[in-house]
Amino acid sequence: MTRDLFNNQAVSALGGSMRDFRVQSGPDLARRGDAFYAWQNNRRANGLWPFSRSTEAGPGTVCAAADDRGNPIRGVNFASQDYLSMSSHPAIKETAIETIRTYGVHSAGSSALVGNTNLSVALERRLADYLQMEEAILYPTGWAAGYGIIKGLVRSADHIVMDTLSHVCLQEGANAATRNIYQFRHLDLEHCRSKLESIRARDTENGILIVTEGLFSMDSDTPDIAGFQALADEFGARLVVDVAHDFGALGDGTGHIGLQNMLGKVDLVMGSFSKTFASNGGFVACRSRALKEYLRFYSPSATFSNALSPMQAAVVLKALDIIQSEEGARLRASLMKNVHLLRQTLSEAGFEYYGDPSAIVAVKMGSEGLARLVSRRIPELGLLSNLVEYPAVAKGAARFRMQVMAGHKEENIRDAVAILREAVDAARTDLDMLTGSRDKAFLAA
Ligand SMILES: Cc1ncc(COP(=O)(O)O)c(C=O)c1O
Repeated sequence: MTRDLFNNQAVSALGGSMRDFRVQSGPDLARRGDAFYAWQNNRRANGLWPFSRSTEAGPGTVCAAADDRGNPIRGVNFASQDYLSMSSHPAIKETAIETIRTYGVHSAGSSALVGNTNLSVALERRLADYLQMEEAILYPTGWAAGYGIIKGLVRSADHIVMDTLSHVCLQEGANAATRNIYQFRHLDLEHCRSKLESIRARDTENGILIVTEGLFSMDSDTPDIAGFQALADEFGARLVVDVAHDFGALGDGTGHIGLQNMLGKVDLVMGSFSKTFASNGGFVACRSRALKEYLRFYSPSATFSNALSPMQAAVVLKALDIIQSEEGARLRASLMKNVHLLRQTLSEAGFEYYGDPSAIVAVKMGSEGLARLVSRRIPELGLLSNLVEYPAVAKGAARFRMQVMAGHKEENIRDAVAILREAVDAARTDLDMLTGSRDKAFLAA
C-alpha cells in the first residue's frame, strides 16, 4: 500500500482542496472543469477520491457499493442518511407499491397548478398539526425548501442574520435574496444580538430573518431555540429553524423544537424528508394561511418546480404514522442506543468526535492529508463512511461523518470502529513515511 504512494502525483493528491477550483476564468465556459478534473483524477487514480459512490441495492446497514470507477466495496454502512432505517421498512415499501398502483408514478405539475394530490394535501395538514403550526407547504426537496423560504420571503432591502454554519441551501437562498447578509458565530446568541442591534439602529423599516438549524449537520450541536425566538421577538425579526436532521429522529419525534418545549412557538420551521422519512422532499411550516399562500406563489423552488410524486407523499405520510407510534419510539430508542454505543466505542479506541448525541457522529481527523489516506483504506477493510473536508468544514478540521441508523447492530458498530482504528494507524504510518521525504506543511495543507 505505502510503496505505491511514493510518487509525486500521489503526494500531490494529498494536498489542495475543492475551494482551489471554484473561481475559474477564461472565455470558454466549457473548459471550466478542466483544472478541477485533473486534480480530481489524480486523487481518483491514487485511490484518494472517496465520493460519488453508488450502492448496489439501496442503503442497508451492511451493503454492497461501488466507487466511481466501478470498484466494488462491501461493508458496514455508516454513510447513508436513513436514521430510523425507514427506507427498508416493509410497511413503507408496501405503501409505495400500492400508491403507484392507484396513482401512477408522477405528480405531473407544480403544486401551484395541479401537482398536488389528496395525499400531499393530507401530508401538509399532518406536518402542520404535528409541529403545532397553522399551516405547512411542501417542496420537491429539502434544498428547495431551504432556498425557497428565504428567496420567497426576503427582498433586497431586508436583512438576513444567519449562523455561520448554516446549510448551503440557506446560504444560497440568502445570496439570491439580498446583499444584506450578516453571519453570527456558530450558536452565539450574543453575537446574533449585536448584529440585530446594529441593523435596527439604522433600519426599522425592513424585515430581518434570523436563520439557524435544529441540529447542525457537520457538528451535531444545537442552538438555544427559545433564546433565538426571543431575540427575533425583541427586534421585530422572524426566525426560521432548519430541522432536517432532528425532526422525526430525536426526542419524541418532534426533534429539538419539541425537546426545548418550543412546539408552535417558532415563527417558521423548515425541514427535509431525506434523512428520516425515506423520501426526497421538504417542507416549511408557518403560522398563517396567508404566509403559506405567499410562499406557494413567490417561492420559486415551489412555484416553478414539479410537486412531490404521489408515492413520495404517501411514503412520508406512512413514515409519520410510524414516527408518531410506539414503533417510532422504539426505533428512536434503538437509534440512540446505537449512537451512545458508537460514541463510547470510539472513545475507548482513542477517537474524538464533535457535538452532542445524535445520528451524526463526526469523528475528528484533522489534516486533510491524513483523512484522505484513511479514506483510501476503509473501503478495503469493509467500512463505508463519508469523508468531510474543506470547504464543507474548516481547513484542518477534516472528519469522517458517521451516520447511525436504528437498524445497525452492535457488531456493525464494533466492526466500524475497529476498521477505523486500523485504517488511521496505517495511514499515520503512511503519512510519517511521506513526511520524511516531503515538506510536512504541504501534506498537512
Ligand atoms: C441542514 C440541511 N438542510 C437541508 C438539506 C437539504 O435536504 P435535501 O437532501 O432533502 O435536499 C440538508 C441535506 O443535506 C441539510 O443537511
